[in-house]
Amino acid sequence: MKIPVIFDCDPGHDDALALVMACASEKLDIKAVTVCAGNAALEKTLVNAKRILRLLGQSAPLAAGAARPLLREPVYAPDIHGKSGLDGAPLPPPDYPQERAGAAELQRRIISQSPEPVTIIATGPLTNIAILFSAFPEVKQNIARISFMGGSAGAGNWTAAAEFNFYADPEAADIVLSSGLPLLMSGLNVTEKAFITRDEIDAIRAFGGRTPVLIAALLDFYLGVYMKRGFPGAALHDPCAVASLTNPELFSAHPYHVTVETRGKYTAGMSLVDIRRRSDAKPNVTVNMDVDRKGFIKLLMDAAGTY
Ligand code: RIB
Ligand code: CA
Repeated sequence: MKIPVIFDCDPGHDDALALVMACASEKLDIKAVTVCAGNAALEKTLVNAKRILRLLGQSAPLAAGAARPLLREPVYAPDIHGKSGLDGAPLPPPDYPQERAGAAELQRRIISQSPEPVTIIATGPLTNIAILFSAFPEVKQNIARISFMGGSAGAGNWTAAAEFNFYADPEAADIVLSSGLPLLMSGLNVTEKAFITRDEIDAIRAFGGRTPVLIAALLDFYLGVYMKRGFPGAALHDPCAVASLTNPELFSAHPYHVTVETRGKYTAGMSLVDIRRRSDAKPNVTVNMDVDRKGFIKLLMDAAGTY
């Protein structure tokens, strides 16, 4: 039985690679893709999602979601993903059908009509998921779990304290963390270990064919950004939210109590992962703490090789 999935994202290079992995997986059935602002403005992340889904030969319904966080001013990451939000490769044109319905309505429809509980994979700010729960709280009864990239059990990347997805919309992260649903967190503490190297990107390019070559071109751009910042490779944050669902054996994870700061002057968006295992802090999240990087990269390369 394939796992029915709604994939919510803000493409973004690592969102694109997460879609490469998710769409290639024999274990997942992508029922819908929804998009929010994050790495770039919504009009850009929506175009990027269309281009990637067209490249991957997908046909899942696609809907646009939130153009801005619940309360705060939007922040974008052009320094990481370029002006378009997905620079570096001549991707196909964005002629991919878009639902008239917005993300929350499409998510509600898929979840309420699914005979099996639906899993949400979220790789951007959690705005769309927070809106879904606020508008249609009843959907929680048919959601199996949420696997998200966000937060960190260590330092941040957008500020010293906060990871980008949580920083962009801490109020939305708080709604998801307090939802009571089974949550699987891939935070920076593990995703920065899930990096891809130049040689591994070249191995994907060597598969030949239009799609692997374009995937490698996207990774070349993204690698350049990370190498300039002194990283050993390009951190594949979002694919961890897919791989830890399909191949949990590649990760070591632990249930912890996780909260997010929504008020701090210096700490807004900071995720607090309580590793003290206090009896008064009941675990609400399964937190990925380590990854078998080589096994993870093999999973990505196998996925890229299927196109
Ligand atoms: O902090 C990394 C996260 O922020 C990733 O999801 C990346 O795509 C950006 O959205
Ligand atoms: Ca993302």
